[in-house]
Amino acid sequence: MFDSGFGGLTVARAVIDLLPAEDLVYLGDTGRYPYGSRAIDEVRGFALEIAHHLLDTYQIKTLVVACNTATAAALQDLRSELDIPVLGVIEPGVRSLLLASQSRRVGVIGTVGTVNSGAYQEAVVRSDPDIELFTCACPGFVEFVERGVCQGPQVEILAERLLWPVVEGGVDALLLGCTHYPYLARTIGEVMGTDVVLVSSADETAFALAGDLAKAGLLHPEADRVGKHRFISSGDVRAFAALGSRLLGPELANAERWEPDAT
Ligand code: DGL
Repeated sequence: MFDSGFGGLTVARAVIDLLPAEDLVYLGDTGRYPYGSRAIDEVRGFALEIAHHLLDTYQIKTLVVACNTATAAALQDLRSELDIPVLGVIEPGVRSLLLASQSRRVGVIGTVGTVNSGAYQEAVVRSDPDIELFTCACPGFVEFVERGVCQGPQVEILAERLLWPVVEGGVDALLLGCTHYPYLARTIGEVMGTDVVLVSSADETAFALAGDLAKAGLLHPEADRVGKHRFISSGDVRAFAALGSRLLGPELANAERWEPDAT
């Protein structure tokens, strides 16, 4: 599993809880975050480099792209280049979003890269062409999470400034279309109001992974074992372990360093 940094830990948490017997290797590309403001081709290059590293070094049996920006940029390429199943977060997220909405007016927030890619717009129309979708990019949210600032006046001011398109759209369900955003859910929820359901893609992605592994006969044969968890960062590993254990929990006690080729 990989993300640009700490965001994918929201998905890792759900996967560890649902599939405790499975081994997990998580790579946070903190040395090159944020992905959301980078060109799509560059993010695609990072995603392919990381995928090959995880495959060659750890012989992973399946890959979860725990990042919306990388899913939007690279899911198709990853699926055609790799011989293992590859799961992104966009389709599971859209499934949860549509299930949560009664009014059929929904919102998606994400990074500039994700929103501008049109990936959510396409995925929503594919699932239900009659849905009214309001989207907005939230530059700055990821940087707060990466600094460990998940609430407070600065986050509130930014959230109020950025979220107006989905507030004015009158949506009844809002997908947090960046895996970092669940860490800001309290503030986002306050700005959106209590009538709006906030949807994260983490649980649905974990369920989709469990289903895919079962279907492919890839679930670990010893269902009662406790899986091993490895955490890797391309940035400062101490900082990664310190903030990561606060966000994910005690499974992230140590982190290892990985040096990417491209910067
Ligand atoms: N967590 C990521 C996402 O879901 C990427 C955030 C970033 O690096 O900009 O889009």
